[in-house]
Amino acid sequence: MSTTPASIIGAPTPRIDGPLKTTGAAEYAADFHFDRMAYAVPVGALIASGRIRSLDTSAAGQMPGVLLVLDHGSIGPLYRTVPNDDNATNSEVRAAFEDDIVRHWGQHVAVVVAETFEQATAAAAAVKVDYETQQADLHESLDGFDGKRKSVSKRGDPDSAFAAAPVKIDATYITPNETHNPIEMHASVAVWEGENLTLYETTQGVVNHRAVMAQVLGLPVENVRVITRFLGSGFGGKLFPWPHTAMTAVAAKKLGRPVKLSLDRRMMFSAVGYRPRTEQHIQLGATREGKLLALRQDYLNVTSQLDDFDEGCGEATPYLYSVANLEVTSGLVRRHFGAPAPMRGPGAVPGLFALEAAMNELADQLNIDPLQLRLLNDAEKDESTNQPFSSRHLRECYETGAKKFGWEKRTAAIGSMRRDGKILGWGLAGASWVALRLPCTATVEFCANGRLCVRCGTQDIGTGTYTIFAQVLHEKTGVPLDRIDVILGDSALPDGPMSGGSLTTGSVLNAVAAGADNAIKRLQQLAKDTEGSPVQDAELEDISYTAGRVHAKDKPPGDGAHFAEILAMARLNGLSAEGKTQPTWEDPKSKGVSLHSYGAQFVEVEWEPEIARLRVSRVVTVIDAGRIINPKSAANQIAGAVVMGVGMGLLEETIHDQRTGQPINGNMADYLMATCADAPQIDVTFLDHPDPAMGEYGARGVGEIGLAGVAPAITAAVYHATGVRVRELPVRIENLLQSHVLEA
Ligand code: MOS
Repeated sequence: MSTTPASIIGAPTPRIDGPLKTTGAAEYAADFHFDRMAYAVPVGALIASGRIRSLDTSAAGQMPGVLLVLDHGSIGPLYRTVPNDDNATNSEVRAAFEDDIVRHWGQHVAVVVAETFEQATAAAAAVKVDYETQQADLHESLDGFDGKRKSVSKRGDPDSAFAAAPVKIDATYITPNETHNPIEMHASVAVWEGENLTLYETTQGVVNHRAVMAQVLGLPVENVRVITRFLGSGFGGKLFPWPHTAMTAVAAKKLGRPVKLSLDRRMMFSAVGYRPRTEQHIQLGATREGKLLALRQDYLNVTSQLDDFDEGCGEATPYLYSVANLEVTSGLVRRHFGAPAPMRGPGAVPGLFALEAAMNELADQLNIDPLQLRLLNDAEKDESTNQPFSSRHLRECYETGAKKFGWEKRTAAIGSMRRDGKILGWGLAGASWVALRLPCTATVEFCANGRLCVRCGTQDIGTGTYTIFAQVLHEKTGVPLDRIDVILGDSALPDGPMSGGSLTTGSVLNAVAAGADNAIKRLQQLAKDTEGSPVQDAELEDISYTAGRVHAKDKPPGDGAHFAEILAMARLNGLSAEGKTQPTWEDPKSKGVSLHSYGAQFVEVEWEPEIARLRVSRVVTVIDAGRIINPKSAANQIAGAVVMGVGMGLLEETIHDQRTGQPINGNMADYLMATCADAPQIDVTFLDHPDPAMGEYGARGVGEIGLAGVAPAITAAVYHATGVRVRELPVRIENLLQSHVLEA
C-alpha cells in the first residue's frame, strides 16, 4: 500500500506545527480569551502544617473589580475521584478546599476572582488567614525511617549471597527534590454553557482530565470537554489534574462568566508536583572477576500527607543485569510537602543513578573497565519474569558508544587525562526505560476539499506528535504533508493516550495506520459503488489506490480519479474510518515479552582545580528505542534530556525553609537548571532496530530514556577527574574542593 519510494518513516521531518509556534499563532491554554472573562488568582498557605482558624475575605471582597472570593467554606462540594480508577488518575484535588487543614506550604486556601488579573492579584494579597500552626515534618533526610517496607522484586537469596561475596559495594545514594520547570506554566480557562463545561487546559492527557474533572465536579462525563491544542512541555507535572482546575471551574459556574487562572512560576514550586527526594541503599556482591552474585536495592521516597506516591526507583533494577540473587524493597516517607508527581523518567532515572553509580564503584574497586563490567553482567533474558526481551541491544549501545567516544583511550588513574590545561574525567552508565502500547483510537477522513484529516484525543506535549501522525498518513496514503490536517488536543475526539511515559508514539502509530488502511478500503468500496467513477462496478480486488487516486489495477493512477472527485460524484463531504491500537498487554505478540528501551551514556567532564570549575564538555549517547519514526524530533528529545541530565547531575535541587516549608529557591533565578551555556557537545545515535512486539512500526518512544544514565555517568567522570566520590546529587563545588588533584 505504500506509495512513496523513499519512506517518510525514519526521515528527519520538520515539525508540521513549527510555523504556528514560531509565528505565535499556536494557542496555548492561557492564550484563550472570551468576552466577559474574569481572572482568578489563588491564595497559598503560609505554613506547612496546621489548621485555618479564620479566613477573613472582607477587605479583599471590597477591593476594586473583585467579583468572588472562594474558600473551603464557600466553594461547595467537590468530590474525590474513585481510588484506583484506571479511567481517572488524579493528583491532589482532595487537598483543595475540602477542609480547613493545611498540609503543605503553598496549598491553595482561597481563590479570588476579579475583572482583571491585576485586581485579582491585589485582592488575593489582602485575604487574611489566621492559622493554628502545628509542628511540620520537613526534614530533607529520610535517614531513620522505620516504617513499612514493601518487596518490589525478589529472586534467590540476596542476603546470604551478599554476605558471602568476596567483593562488595554497600552505599547509599541520594537524589534531591526537583521541580518541573516547563516553559509554559499551568493554566485553566473554564467556560460554561448551561451544564456543559469546556476547559482550556495545560494537560498531558485531555481524556483523563475530562474523566477526573467530571468526577470532582459531579458532572456526567459527557458534559465536560477538555482542550489542549498546544503544550509548552510538562515533564510529567501536567500528567494529572491539580486543584486549581476545579477552583477555576467552580468560580466560572458561580459567576456565570468564563474564568482564567494561570499559576505563576512561584506557585509552580509548591502546588503542582515535584520529583520527590530519594535515598537508595544499594548492596552489590561480586566475584573477583566482576560477576554479580547479589544485588539489593532499598529505596525510600518522600510523599505528601495524602498521597501514596511511589517513585518506583526499582523499575529497571530487576532486569538490567544477570544476577541470581536480587531484592528490591521500598518505603514511603511522609513529609509536609505537596503531592509529588512523575517527572521525566520517574523511578528509573533516580533508580539508575543509584544502581549505575554503584556499578561504577564496583568497577573501580575491582580495577575492571566499567564497560567490561557491564558486558560481563549483561542479561540474556528478563530474569525477574523469565521472559525473553522483545528487542534488547544494550551491548551494541555500549560498543557503538565506546567507539564514537574513543573510550579505549581512557587511562584509569584519577586525574591522569589532560587536554588544553584541564583535567578530563570520563564516565559511562547504562540506561533503560519501559515500553508499552496504550489503547488508542484515531479516525482518518478523506475530505471533499482534497485534504486528509486525522483526529485523535491525544495531545502534543511539544515533542512532535502532530508530525508523526502526518508522517504515518503520508506514508500510507501518499497525500502530501501540506494537505494533511492533524487534529489533536480535544477530549471530544476519539480517545487517545496521555503524553507520558514515552508511550505516545508507540501507542498512536498503529491506530493511525489502521485508520488509514480502513479509510482507503472504504474509499475503494465507495469508488466501486459510485456512478460515473472510473472503477464503477469493478471487483474490489481489481481496484487500486495510489497517492490519493483510485484506479483500476491494470491502469495507471492517471486513468483513475482523485478521492476529492469520487467524493464529489458521491455527493459526500467526507469519508472516514476508524483505527485502533491494541494495548501490548492484550496482544499475543507482546504480552509474554519484556519490553524496554536501552541506552548507553558516555560523559566527559573538564576539571580546572585551580578555580574549582567543572563543566560537562562532551556526551555521546546511544539509544535503542526501536525504530525511530522522526530522527529529527527524536534526536531533539535525547539532546534535551542530556542537557536536563547535566542539570540533574550538577544543578537542580529544590530547598525548603525548615520553619515554613516554603521553597527557598522557588523561582527561576535561584533554582538552577542547565542552560545553553551548560550544554555539552552532544552526539546522539539511534540503533534503529524495529521492535517486533510494538506492531507495524516497531517504535518504542524516546521522551525519557535520554535522561536515564546521564547523572551516574557524570559522577563517574567527576570521580575520574577529581577523585571525589559524590553519592548525593547535585554535585557541588563544596564536594569538589575536597579533590586532591590540585593542578592541571
Ligand atoms: Mo512523563 S514523567 O511520563 O510526563
